[in-house]
Amino acid sequence: MKYIIGNWKMNLGIRESVALARGVIRITRGKEGLPEIIICPAFTALSEVKKTLAHSRVSLGAQNCGVEKSGAFTGEISAGMLLDAECKYALVGHSERRHIFGESNEIVRKRLEAMSKTKLIPVLCVGEPKSERDAGNEENYVTDQLKSALDGLSLNKKKPLFIAYEPVWAIGAKEPASIAEMINLQAFIRLVAKKITDLPDTSIKILYGGSVDSENAYSFLREGEVDGVLVGGASLSINKFEGIIKAASDVIVAQQ
Ligand code: 13P
Repeated sequence: MKYIIGNWKMNLGIRESVALARGVIRITRGKEGLPEIIICPAFTALSEVKKTLAHSRVSLGAQNCGVEKSGAFTGEISAGMLLDAECKYALVGHSERRHIFGESNEIVRKRLEAMSKTKLIPVLCVGEPKSERDAGNEENYVTDQLKSALDGLSLNKKKPLFIAYEPVWAIGAKEPASIAEMINLQAFIRLVAKKITDLPDTSIKILYGGSVDSENAYSFLREGEVDGVLVGGASLSINKFEGIIKAASDVIVAQQ
């Protein structure tokens, strides 16, 4: 199975989100061999988008997850609230949260801990900034992120753990990571995650994110053991998102 996650980031009002969600459903109608498709709208649109997705093959995800269950935590949305809004997935540790809003490895760990006690499926985002890449330190950097997030964490072996490798320098950039870089890092991340978590192979899903579009999606998806892609900008264009979904379907058919 391949997974395509659309991270809409801080874009689209409720009406626009519903319209885009309808477009995504249209793409999937009557199609065979589809990937699992997950869309992550802004929090304000979750509820209406969920109604739109009812009886469709598209799942709902959130862009972050609060640490505590409830209480005086202004601006946070708890795992319970996300489940109440019928989210199935939630991103955690996205590089924009880490680098723009200062979310540390420690807070990412706490968010993951909160999710691990619920049915929410986590999509842990990791990836190195350009300075670390230039210094050839990407593996150490990503290992720290993975260890800090996952070491000693009690995980349900029956629930998948998604890890998205999103090098910071490739997000919203002109160029994505090269296929070779992506293959190396995703294999490395799978190895480290397996060692730390002791999860069965099939429970660990590795995605690539960073300037994925309809032109390059096929190359990313057919390579290595990558389980899918996490898409930002291109998920806001129905034509580009359709191209990415088609690329995933083509890979699924070719690999059957
Ligand atoms: P872009 O696809 O716009 O590079 O964004 C990637 C990303 O951050 C997805 O979470």
